[in-house]
Amino acid sequence: MIPLASPLAQYRSQAGAIDAAIRRVLEGGDYVLGGEVQAFERAFAEFCGVGDAVGVNSGTDALKLALRALGIGAGDEVVTVSHTALATVAAILEAGAVPVLVDIDPVHRTIDPARIDAAVTSRCRAIVPVHVYGQAADMAAVLAIAQRHGLKVIEDCAQAAGGRYRGQRLGSLGDAGCFSFYPTKNLGAIGDGGMVTANDVQLAGRVRRLRQYGWDEHRRTQEAGFNSRLDALQAAILAAKLPRLDEDNGRRAALARRYATALRDLPMTLPATRADGDHVFHLYAIESDDAEALRRHLASRGIGSAAHYRVPVHRHDGYAARVVVPATGLPVTERLAGRMLSLPIYPELADADADRVIDAVRDYFAGR
Ligand SMILES: Cc1ncc(COP(=O)(O)O)c(C=O)c1O
Repeated sequence: MIPLASPLAQYRSQAGAIDAAIRRVLEGGDYVLGGEVQAFERAFAEFCGVGDAVGVNSGTDALKLALRALGIGAGDEVVTVSHTALATVAAILEAGAVPVLVDIDPVHRTIDPARIDAAVTSRCRAIVPVHVYGQAADMAAVLAIAQRHGLKVIEDCAQAAGGRYRGQRLGSLGDAGCFSFYPTKNLGAIGDGGMVTANDVQLAGRVRRLRQYGWDEHRRTQEAGFNSRLDALQAAILAAKLPRLDEDNGRRAALARRYATALRDLPMTLPATRADGDHVFHLYAIESDDAEALRRHLASRGIGSAAHYRVPVHRHDGYAARVVVPATGLPVTERLAGRMLSLPIYPELADADADRVIDAVRDYFAGR
């Protein structure tokens, strides 16, 4: 079986460092927040080139707390996309705001800047560009639009740890960057975890208070908060893995090149990469008329794949009534639903296994 992603292979490839980190935490006796979390926050802030970073319980909470720390909540609108994980939109709702969903650019599948202006009302407070699949959104355009309307920009970096846009790390371009350390992510924990990055240390300080009931360092509060702490085990494991993230992302990019070379003549659209960004290939998502049949064919050959995002957020029963969609609809998002298929990609995937994936995809099209 070749899985879509393999947190187990990742653990095994770094077991020595991870086991040592776990043992250190167990013997240290400090299991929630504390020195391990502070050390990882510093390392991650330095890695991203930002003023500060705040560890939280998940990527969803990172988005929620960043929004709340920027003063965004009830009555406010936040522009984002429907071609994303439910979590992006769930976090906006949890913050109390209304998600306003716009279409994506058909080539890169990130937010289409040309659709944002029409979605901005007097209640709009922020834009959440999603660096989906591991590729940067068109940040120059997003930031220019945000500045024109006086909006905050919160980058959803859940799928893009280590990625860059015009040389800068993702998570350092907007007002805040929000990361997920869910085990399958490019920097994955052995459980849930997330991080908010910010250049503004005051903003980071507010996130730090909000993650623990609103407490300051003297356990006094000026505002009510949440419980969204990162635990020491996850922080220590993530700190042990961080030094290898760039190398791992390089391996993902090499696998993506291998797929691109071997599959380019087939009747499907391969991922397009921006010339001014470093795509970190959290997912290798192709587009095809045959996505579902290809998924079944791959499964019959013991190869995992997944349809991201077969049901866009605005088509989910639990969310449809809670989001705003433009009167003109979301034609690109709708067209891609059911046409995308993510092929296995993770740093430990051997070339021989990538070649098995390639052979299986080629066999599918040869047999049509
Ligand atoms: C684009 C995107 N945003 C947010 C999240 C939320 O992260 P988490 O699962 O850590 O809450 C995810 C991951 O599921 C994601 O892919």
